[in-house]
Amino acid sequence: MGRSIPEITLNDGVTLPVIGLGTYKLNGNAGAQAINSAIDTGYRLIDTAYNYENEGTVGEAVRRSSIPREELRITSKLPGRYQEYDKAVTAIQESLYRANLDYYDLYLIHWPNPKQGLYVEAWQALIDAKKWGLIRSIGVCNFLPEHMERLEKETGVKPSINQIELHPFFNQEQQRIWHEENNVKTESWSPLARANDVLQNETISKIADHHNKTISQVILRWHYQLGSISIPKSSSPERQIENLSIFDFSLDESEMGMIAELTRPDGRIKDLDPATYEEF
Ligand SMILES: NC(=O)c1ccc[n+]([C@@H]2O[C@H](COP(=O)([O-])OP(=O)(O)OC[C@H]3O[C@@H](n4cnc5c(N)ncnc54)[C@H](OP(=O)(O)O)[C@@H]3O)[C@@H](O)[C@H]2O)c1
Repeated sequence: MGRSIPEITLNDGVTLPVIGLGTYKLNGNAGAQAINSAIDTGYRLIDTAYNYENEGTVGEAVRRSSIPREELRITSKLPGRYQEYDKAVTAIQESLYRANLDYYDLYLIHWPNPKQGLYVEAWQALIDAKKWGLIRSIGVCNFLPEHMERLEKETGVKPSINQIELHPFFNQEQQRIWHEENNVKTESWSPLARANDVLQNETISKIADHHNKTISQVILRWHYQLGSISIPKSSSPERQIENLSIFDFSLDESEMGMIAELTRPDGRIKDLDPATYEEF
């Protein structure tokens, strides 16, 4: 039943599939059912966060599934209000209790909140939680190069992943180049731009027709060919299958170039600029 998804290896040796399931808004029993349908379809990477209030739902789906825990990759994220070292340690423990899991495969700082100035303390808590066996791999979300440089300078440890807003309308080319040069993996959040008008885009539609694929499949293939892990959220079993069915075609250079041209400086979904935006 399950489809097999290519895997990549992070700078700390942990492996992840190149597509996972986003779970923002998948809560309660309906959420657990959607996550179980995804696992049955072949998804092995599940992305949650303390602030989505569904770590419990993800844990429940893991328990309902017949797939062994060690074959799954579960991600969660530390909220901004718990970036002080002691609070961060407690929040990581609380995250695990909520999911009723012994460990997360990946734990990320959700936003740098640079004005608050505590992300290095939070990072130290993640480093220690990894040493204590609570987390296998540690990373960040929405960090600018200057934030990651500070982490490495002050703790000697660089993130395995930076999860950032990335879709055809905001393709983050400079940030991706920095990641590649520094051996930090890119992970795309809102890879389908939350199903906004990108899903009606004429350029991508033509490429999709040419390959007999859907616009979503072309976009997810584009993420894969950029070298980024994508985590599309879908509550629908049909669209979950659709979103995984991208390994039987490829985009050529000119098609990749046409999609690259769709990016815009104001292309973010909600104008959340990590240099100034703060999330708690
Ligand atoms: N680190 C961060 O700061 C951050 C921020 C935002 C999101 N995230 C993570 O990234 C994940 C993905 O981002 P997202 O949920 O914002 O947006 P997304 O995955 O880009 O888009 C989700 C939307 O697309 C629809 N959809 C999915 N597949 C489709 C398809 N094949 N055709 C048509 N519509 C489709 C979904 O509807 P249906 O459910 O009805 O299919 C849903 O409305 C989140 O769930 C979350 O885990 C992280």
